Amino acid sequence: MAADRRNRGLVDAAVASVCRTIRDIIGLHRIEATTLLDHAPSQRVLEMNGFEPIGMAPRYLHIDGQWRDHRMFQRILHDGPPAS
Ligand SMILES: CC(C)(COP(=O)(O)OP(=O)(O)OC[C@H]1O[C@@H](n2cnc3c(N)ncnc32)[C@H](O)[C@@H]1OP(=O)(O)O)[C@@H](O)C(=O)NCCC(=O)NCCS
Repeated sequence: MAADRRNRGLVDAAVASVCRTIRDIIGLHRIEATTLLDHAPSQRVLEMNGFEPIGMAPRYLHIDGQWRDHRMFQRILHDGPPAS
């Protein structure tokens, strides 16, 4: 998000829209996301959208010259049978 547009709820709304599309149109059971360990704004956006922490992935992504640990989150979208 551009620096002068942050903290206005825009990424919250985008994540909510993506989750609705994945649940209602694609039909997936679960969605997963990761953030840097201490990235509070990203973790807040996930929390606002019903994601729960499920663990830590060591050296998950190469960012700014280093392999960085990430916190992993998931949201269960529905408990029905898998989409056919
Ligand atoms: C992370 C990012 C994508 C979030 O987008 P956004 O549109 O600003 O997010 P939203 O406005 O929907 O929500 C942000 C939430 O985090 C909160 N927040 C912001 N800074 C925070 C901080 N330092 N600690 C805790 N919460 C924080 C906001 O208050 C808001 O929560 P609230 O609605 O309960 O008040 C955006 O801040 C960004 O692009 N940051 C810079 C790039 C970056 O860090 N990208 C991700 C890592 S690769």
